[in-house]
Amino acid sequence: MLDKLIIEFDKGVRTLFAPAASRRPYPDAHLPEAELTDAEKRHALGLMRVNHCGEICAQALYQGQALTARDPAAREALRHAAIEEEEHLAWTERRIRELGGHPSLLNPLWYTGSLAIGVAAGLLGDKWNLGFLEETEHQVGAHLDSHLASLPEGDAKSRAIVAQMRDDEAEHAKTAHALGAAPLPAPVKGLMKLSSKLMTTASYRI
Ligand SMILES: [Fe+2]
Ligand SMILES: [Fe+2]
Repeated sequence: MLDKLIIEFDKGVRTLFAPAASRRPYPDAHLPEAELTDAEKRHALGLMRVNHCGEICAQALYQGQALTARDPAAREALRHAAIEEEEHLAWTERRIRELGGHPSLLNPLWYTGSLAIGVAAGLLGDKWNLGFLEETEHQVGAHLDSHLASLPEGDAKSRAIVAQMRDDEAEHAKTAHALGAAPLPAPVKGLMKLSSKLMTTASYRI
């Protein structure tokens, strides 16, 4: 257990402070930079910062699960999803820089909170852990859809990244479901929506 903790602590430090890597090509690699107004740029930046922060939280949730998941098959399937989350982190981080900004200053705070939630969900047992993951991926997918509706029409680069992330998250939700996710009670879903509202409102700004 101590070994596991040390490995996860190391992952956490790298998630927060080292650049993430992408195995797949960046979804926007083939697209030219658009001429955006200052207001459009600011808005796209805010949204991409929210997405980046969401991916930081995803890293923490998956790590929390890795610490507690009992079924080795589930752990392996989720490890694959976690690699894609790391790519999402890389894509959004680079886009934030291109738009002239920086990742949310509150990331360490959200990371710590998400890790605690991930561990807590994991301790409840695999089916609840997976249920929590499935619901998270559904909620993230809905968020990404709303961002696609809200991003500046001309910002093809941000849009390509968000669209690919949305497709990946839908696959992650399916994976969690196939592994035996339990449906969460409505009040828990409501609480999750509330805390993500808090996170998105704050990280859009700082
Ligand atoms: Fe993601
Ligand atoms: Fe995901």
